[in-house]
Amino acid sequence: MDKTVSTLLNEQINKEFYSAYLYLDIANFFEAKGLNGFANWYEIQAREESDHAMLMYRYLQNNGEKVTLEAIAKPDKTLVEIMDPLHVGLEHERYVTSLIHAIYAAAKNVDDFRTIQFLDWFVKEQGEEEKNAQDLITKMELYGSDPRGLYLLNSELAARVYSAPSLVL
Ligand code: FEO
Repeated sequence: MDKTVSTLLNEQINKEFYSAYLYLDIANFFEAKGLNGFANWYEIQAREESDHAMLMYRYLQNNGEKVTLEAIAKPDKTLVEIMDPLHVGLEHERYVTSLIHAIYAAAKNVDDFRTIQFLDWFVKEQGEEEKNAQDLITKMELYGSDPRGLYLLNSELAARVYSAPSLVL
């Protein structure tokens, strides 16, 4: 595999684990606020991020690339108001999208069709994650200031269940 592509994928493993850590921190924040549905939603989000990291780990292994695991950064976002994590989440997903696109561009640059095909799933996934983050902000802006609205939204988010990623290697 091209060195630039494998290095970027290796770095992305770390970024995905950081994402899991960030979302777990957000779940932790909501748990402390008594919003267990929001906490559940972000806990599942954290699990999905770990799945993303493991898919990249497995992909590199399957292609004979040695993986180097670096330290995972501490979640460093300031969370005070209930809306803070929602904006942090959207901003973070946009950042991750830019990282995935950069790996895609590097793979395209060297005609690494296998990696391009592997990354197609992530490109689509990022679109969904940005939409989910945006939808949550929209719903909170519409209903979040009303206690009953917040209660119902919390109940809706409590119903989210984890499912393993659809991408199989
Ligand atoms: Fe794995 Fe939310 O990006």
